[in-house]
Amino acid sequence: MLSHATRPGLRSAMRGLPRSFVEDCPSIAYRPAPSSVMSPHSSAASSISSASRINNLSGHLQFTSKMSSFQAPHATLLIPGPIEFDDEVLRSMSHYSQAHVAPAFVETFGETLSLLRQVVRSTDPNAQPYIINGSGTIGWDLVAANLVEAGEDALILTTGFFGDRFADCLTQYGAKVTKIAGEVGSVPSFDEIAKALSEKKYKIITATHVDTSTGVVFDLKTLVETVKKVSPETLVIADGVCSVAVEELAFDEWGLDGLVTAPQKAIGAPAGLSISFFSERAVKVAHSRKTPAASYFANMERWTPIMKNYEARKPSYFSTPGPQLVHALNTAFKQILARPIEERIQKHTQVSDKVKKAVTDMGLKIVASEPKNQSHAMTAIYLPDGIAATDLLPKLLAKGVIFAAGLHATIGAKYVRFGHMGVSAVNDERGDIDKALNALKASLEECGHKA
Ligand SMILES: Cc1ncc(COP(=O)(O)O)c(C=O)c1O
Repeated sequence: MLSHATRPGLRSAMRGLPRSFVEDCPSIAYRPAPSSVMSPHSSAASSISSASRINNLSGHLQFTSKMSSFQAPHATLLIPGPIEFDDEVLRSMSHYSQAHVAPAFVETFGETLSLLRQVVRSTDPNAQPYIINGSGTIGWDLVAANLVEAGEDALILTTGFFGDRFADCLTQYGAKVTKIAGEVGSVPSFDEIAKALSEKKYKIITATHVDTSTGVVFDLKTLVETVKKVSPETLVIADGVCSVAVEELAFDEWGLDGLVTAPQKAIGAPAGLSISFFSERAVKVAHSRKTPAASYFANMERWTPIMKNYEARKPSYFSTPGPQLVHALNTAFKQILARPIEERIQKHTQVSDKVKKAVTDMGLKIVASEPKNQSHAMTAIYLPDGIAATDLLPKLLAKGVIFAAGLHATIGAKYVRFGHMGVSAVNDERGDIDKALNALKASLEECGHKA
């Protein structure tokens, strides 16, 4: 894991860089310099002045996409979430204040819950969507607090940082956690998973569909098939924070029991919501616990009636929702569903293939080495020997492109992450992907690598 923010060389290299750059690199702890500039993402008003300050610093930043937009000029955010937002999604947030029980908002919220069913491809009226305030992490709390009782066994399949964190969350609520980890850049084997399931009764098994720290995609369809064969009572729960609306997903057809996600990745809406979907049998497990759920807020018994009411267009209250975030999510879902979802998945696949070929042609290796394990949402890219993320990222930023630093403890400093999802992937007119690939090639060359 990087902890170079304390290194004097790096600190001076970072001086004068926009705060957003440092903050957008999750492995670099930000320490504000006395005269640090503000984030160009901090607010529309401050962004314009921040942007011109940054322009003065670097002289040749290429802000934003080629498309005209009301958004203040900013470097193109191509980290694996949050991603660039579509103008309509952002516009729908500037909605006048609404009571959370006002008929118009009840209609929007109810519709958004129903749209979630379509996004995850479920037609089962007894499966249950939940949209609650918080972030992706609250989805883990929902699973850990409601579907497992203290002392019960949970099998966690991990392909990186986020799988490990899901395991930590389950442990926090008292589950007895067994982890099966893939090698860095790879996945656990199905033989090993089947063996573990046959040796012990697990209440749940969890997998991260795309682990954002490694760019590894996990084959959920085969996982469910394996679980159904060996241990059909075990609930299969997926973390889809970095996969929903980019990877293939069929909740009912595959037989998943739970999926937790968040708006700020391929869904393309601002962070601030926890979005989840549970099968009828998972909801029954949550509602028939022997002991009360150990969370007041992340409590499915409290939220299920609220969600049912909103979907039935009845006002309801447990805790105030954020109408503006729900409006943005509603717009994002409608954009996703405006065309067949297969088309969107195919477009992300094409873009991902293009990125992976281009980085390979530049002489770079991908963390997920085998194509079958490579996510279409992002690419985690090993840097050439002698070049660290902290050398490359400022050079990319100077060209108006933001990638993320590494987030995996074992390989942290040696790689960077390129998120290619949402509008940056589906809207060619923006030119974001070509801009990023050109910036990457030029920056590597500036670092002394012949790309
Ligand atoms: C795969 C995955 N799961 C969970 C999370 C946690 O989501 P949040 O940061 O919105 O709480 C993230 C965040 O990046 C993620 O990538």
